[in-house]
Amino acid sequence: MKSEFGMIGLGTMGRALLQNIADKGFCVSGWNRNQERLDLMLQEAAGKDIQGFTDLAAFVESIRSPRVVMLLVPAGEATDEMIQRVLPLLAPGDFIIDGSNAYFKDTDRRSKALAEQGFGFLGLGVSGGETGARYGPSMMAGGTPENYERVRSMLEAAAAKYNGEPCVALLGPSSAGHYVKMVHNGIEYGIMQILAECYDLMRRGLGMAPPEMAAVVDGWDSGTFKSYLLEITAHVLKQRDDLTEGWLVDQVLDKAKAKGTGKWTSQNAMDLGVPVPIIDEAVCAREMSALKEERVLAADLLVSPCAPGSSLSPSALTDLQAAMEAATIIAYAQGLAQLRFASAEFGYSLNMEAVARVWRAGCIIRSELLEVIREAFGRSPSLANLLLDESIAEMIRARDEGLRNTVVAFVTNGIPCAALSSALAYLDAYRSAHLPANLTQAQRDLFGAHTYERTDRDGEFHTEWDFK
Ligand code: 6PG
Repeated sequence: MKSEFGMIGLGTMGRALLQNIADKGFCVSGWNRNQERLDLMLQEAAGKDIQGFTDLAAFVESIRSPRVVMLLVPAGEATDEMIQRVLPLLAPGDFIIDGSNAYFKDTDRRSKALAEQGFGFLGLGVSGGETGARYGPSMMAGGTPENYERVRSMLEAAAAKYNGEPCVALLGPSSAGHYVKMVHNGIEYGIMQILAECYDLMRRGLGMAPPEMAAVVDGWDSGTFKSYLLEITAHVLKQRDDLTEGWLVDQVLDKAKAKGTGKWTSQNAMDLGVPVPIIDEAVCAREMSALKEERVLAADLLVSPCAPGSSLSPSALTDLQAAMEAATIIAYAQGLAQLRFASAEFGYSLNMEAVARVWRAGCIIRSELLEVIREAFGRSPSLANLLLDESIAEMIRARDEGLRNTVVAFVTNGIPCAALSSALAYLDAYRSAHLPANLTQAQRDLFGAHTYERTDRDGEFHTEWDFK
């Protein structure tokens, strides 16, 4: 019997997603060039309707025509190479899904090239890591409605569910799905950095031990702010080290790595001219962490004048919770504002409520807050910024003082809080009816005759500055 679906690439994500799809009653095939991975998959999938291959032609042959083949191989060159390898074995009318964290411009290029050759293509952002892929990821699709329809029931069956609703949708044409996944990752970077800073204040500022911090984070992980990232943070903080007597987190080297999706989010936000400073700061924080050797030298040379913990009381934790919550809302607001700009620039026609809907379960940034966010976009689909929604604004107002007190606490204790302070700076700037950009414009006009607009009349103005 021929398969209904084929997976190319049986790494952790490919294996997990293929088994998930097989569990939902689909007859599937998997291909990997490496026999070991294939064996691992066949072993894990014992008893399921899965055929495995290392021979690409036999794999393609095993799939019912018109074929649906998904690639879960590393983004970039590996994806292009794999498409080139499999294409001669496929026939026009067959259909390729790219489930990697592809760069959205690559997705546009592939989508166009494949359509010209008569192949269907769907760029599919898949979030949720291995467990998500295995038991229900959040999936963000980009492509044509006809192509999406061909795999909709399979994707809906495999997707995470929120109140029974599948967390997958066609979000727009071509690269729309991969773009939304990229911004998802940018928000992920932002929230992870916010949580890292909260951990740092508890550790350096309040001298708390990991299990004490875990109890605090567990307490935060409830109600509207219940989230996967808080849940795993508490879990990480409770983990004992199996090589020493202590806690694992204390033994992990403080150098954060990155595969690049956060950087792409920041880079493209700069291109679009939309401010996403929490995401920018989160990328920079990982880069700063990588300068470990320099930081060790600087710690002695540039001795901080602040003694961490000197001016902190446990009540700082109440403010810290408010700060974490406010900054998290602002991180979502920035990412969602970027999506609005991108939608206009790239013609995605994104439905922001649908974006919030697919992020409510399965993905890394899932949280109960996303239901509140979905409601906000449901009330006002063209909301320019989440912070302009009345109920979100009320949540921010209730946490405003806690965020400000917290940033002051970090600063007076000499503990860096790039993401939290940038959340506050964004908030303060966004609610400033008047910013000092008038001075910037006047300076530009003085040194470069760049002209300026006026508050009292229309037009472009230039002043003959009396400055030599
Ligand atoms: C997800 C994750 C996933 C991956 C990140 C990690 O949504 O499931 O975001 O895509 O874990 O790419 O990114 P970094 O290696 O850059 O932290």
